[in-house]
Amino acid sequence: MVVFVNDGLNAGLQAAVAVAAGWLSWYTWKFFLSPVVYRDEPRELPYLIPCAHRMFLNGGKRFGNYPWAVTIMGESLYVISSAEDVQAVYRAPKLLDFDPFIKEMLSKYGITADAASKMFDTLAGHTKNWMETSIENFKLQMHPGDKLDFVQKRLLGFIDDSLVWDRLRGRMVLQDGEEERVVSLYSWSEMVVVDAQTRAFFDEVLYEKCPDLLAYFQIYEDESWKLPMDLPDFATKALRSSKSSIEKGLRQYLQLPKDKRPNDSWLITTLCEDMDRLGLEETQKVYVLFSFYRVMNANAYKLVFWIISHLLFEPRLMEEIAAEIEPAFRGEKHSAPDLDYLFNSCPLLVSTCEEVLRLTNWPIGTRTVQVDTVIGGKKLRQGRKLLMPYRAMHFDSTVFGADAAAFNPRRFMEKKTLVTNKSYRPFGGAAHYCPGRYIARREVQMFTAVMLKRFDMSLVEGESKGQKSAFPEMDNTLPSGGIQVPLKGEDLTIWVRPSK
Ligand code: HEM
Repeated sequence: MVVFVNDGLNAGLQAAVAVAAGWLSWYTWKFFLSPVVYRDEPRELPYLIPCAHRMFLNGGKRFGNYPWAVTIMGESLYVISSAEDVQAVYRAPKLLDFDPFIKEMLSKYGITADAASKMFDTLAGHTKNWMETSIENFKLQMHPGDKLDFVQKRLLGFIDDSLVWDRLRGRMVLQDGEEERVVSLYSWSEMVVVDAQTRAFFDEVLYEKCPDLLAYFQIYEDESWKLPMDLPDFATKALRSSKSSIEKGLRQYLQLPKDKRPNDSWLITTLCEDMDRLGLEETQKVYVLFSFYRVMNANAYKLVFWIISHLLFEPRLMEEIAAEIEPAFRGEKHSAPDLDYLFNSCPLLVSTCEEVLRLTNWPIGTRTVQVDTVIGGKKLRQGRKLLMPYRAMHFDSTVFGADAAAFNPRRFMEKKTLVTNKSYRPFGGAAHYCPGRYIARREVQMFTAVMLKRFDMSLVEGESKGQKSAFPEMDNTLPSGGIQVPLKGEDLTIWVRPSK
């Protein structure tokens, strides 16, 4: 018996030594020898605990402005850290291609390889494929001009209609009352913004086809972090069932003749007509429409949540902004604000919204190296992916100042050129620069102003007497590609009263 135990111990020890030796040689090769042998290639960042934000900041500190590499879940990725190298990536769209990433994302939404190849193949006699044409159409709808004015007016009008005391009802209200209510700030932001965007782009009849659209979307959003992970079915039940409930509504919506959905935006009408022309099968069309619905709704409400959270924790700032926006309402609580005044004569409001966007956003650009390419003096090998974690640039103290890590609501009004600085990329850039950036900025500024004008808001204090609420903690585990969510349980519960 003793002999057996000893034999087992020896064998265990030998195995442990073998594993340790293997790991040591791999580590020595990867982080010490390979950088010497392959001097012209990006160096690899070793890390122990994979926290994305810290990892990108550490890489920046360790390798300066040079491209570097990191292995995540067995895949070696290049990371581009400097604004100049990001520009170089943008200038080489054929060598460093975005399409493989879009195709991968579309496949997560259920789009088949066959449908994707229809979307990406350029037909004889055409200069652009379906995907390129659709991206052009997004820009036509959402870049400044008549088409943007039209949807923006509708969108801001719906926000204005929703943010009134009598309509503060539904899932976001945790405790009802005539004079005051307890409200979930996260749900309130989500319900109002997603509803307004849905109505601005789609006809009202979508709600007849899917009456619980907002509730399903809320579930989908809470679960959406699982989407890129290929988890087993039992772990993604809620994700899949909320998606298929929305898709059921979208399918019935698509089946309606055009005259039964007269308020479709130009973009939706064109998108649907182009999918018909392409000969996409109905289920595939529904998936494409769902992917658009998601991309358009995923970010703005989260930004609103973070802006109002900051204001609740900085009452002086809240008062200052309330005084600044006052003339836009001509002294009347319920009048629609003068938008021109709000967007052009309220620098503190605009700067605060921009600063929160800087701090809470994790945009990330992705490309696939199609041909060995030199960027920032380093050779990037064909077939590998590269990442541009713009968030790390947003914390660069040489651009944003020594207090880059802190919340400074006046930052963007004190240095007006910051908003167009090459190191500031909250909406990405180049050919895939977010076309929604104009409308997104306007809707969050307007939402914030209307909320401050029409409601008195304060924090519901903690369970025990006198315990102050803490500022909600952001979920830093993974970059979302847009505005980050608060950690589970970190929503803010607030008292809301109609303002006097
Ligand atoms: C605060 C709100 C928003 C943020 C932070 C945001 C951020 C982004 C980012 C980072 C990208 C990727 C850009 C890249 O890959 O370089 C993107 C793409 C996109 N966004 Fe937004 N977005 C917001 C709101 C909106 C809205 C309101 C819409 C539409 C109504 C919209 C429509 C799109 C579309 C269609 C794309 C894909 C563009 C393409 O691939 O060519 N976004 N957004």
